[in-house]
Amino acid sequence: MTDKPAFVPLSILPTPLDEAPRLSAELGVRVLVKRDDLTGLAMGGNKARKLDFLLKDAIDKGCDTIITTGGQQSNFCRMTAAACAKLGLRCILILGGDEPDHDSANVLLDRLFGAEITFAGSEDWGVLQGLVKERAAAIGETAYDMPVGGATPVGALAYVHAADELLSQMAQPPDWIVIADGSGGTHAGLLAGLPREVRVLGIDVSRPPWPLTESIPRLAKKTAVLAARTEPMGELIIADHCGPHYASITEEARDAVRLAATTEALLLDPVYTGKAMAGLIAAVRSGRIERDATVVFWHTGGAVALFADEFAEF
Ligand SMILES: Cc1ncc(COP(=O)(O)O)c(C=O)c1O
Repeated sequence: MTDKPAFVPLSILPTPLDEAPRLSAELGVRVLVKRDDLTGLAMGGNKARKLDFLLKDAIDKGCDTIITTGGQQSNFCRMTAAACAKLGLRCILILGGDEPDHDSANVLLDRLFGAEITFAGSEDWGVLQGLVKERAAAIGETAYDMPVGGATPVGALAYVHAADELLSQMAQPPDWIVIADGSGGTHAGLLAGLPREVRVLGIDVSRPPWPLTESIPRLAKKTAVLAARTEPMGELIIADHCGPHYASITEEARDAVRLAATTEALLLDPVYTGKAMAGLIAAVRSGRIERDATVVFWHTGGAVALFADEFAEF
């Protein structure tokens, strides 16, 4: 017996691939939904898959403390806190913005899972990542630090496997996949894992301080090396549906969230998946996604944010 926690797979896989007949009829294009909102870990989401790999890496390196960062309502931070609780690891979160008067949604869950939280006062991702590095350096080699969204080759590797999982669920590869881009790690993993003819439309919901047009291909290349994939990758396709700033409420996302709820009882969120669905709708309406196409909407979770005080007006 070892006194270190054994690795446990955190996500429940494979996630379902569902037809969305009423949404498809509404949009005039065949939409399937890859249900990564059902990955199981603490209300699910894409980050559970990444954490399977990241926390295995942390444990293999002998770390007992995980440090990461994100916006105040970060889903990645919520799932990291949950994973640490499950594996018996210490979790330190540096969250964006000032401490709220009242905890709601993801912040409430972060505390429930026993994470130690510092509110950075700033929403700037560069500043937040700097604080993570400082904290990790102060602790030393038992600390494992993860950037915003877990966007490292180890984290993105999870989406190479997710790409294989999707292809195994379909008779033919889809024409398009639509996905929300935050850090871009999920998109990078998909590019590394998919055949190049599958077009991945990333909907930029945050405009991070580094351009995704550079960071995603760079990360995809490193991830492909790690996964020993040698096939040429598809091109990077991105559309901006961020609105004025990250987590700002846009009318098109509000409409998209309502449409998914009223046609498929599908819960999207104001920050990521609502904007991704708005991007899918816009791409169909503009003709960028062809009417005879099969589109996989990759549901990355995030509906916990619907219960955040800051989205009470949503
Ligand atoms: C619900 C949800 N969807 C999509 C994303 C974006 O994923 P990535 O950071 O890998 O681009 C995130 C990131 O936190 C998320 O929480």
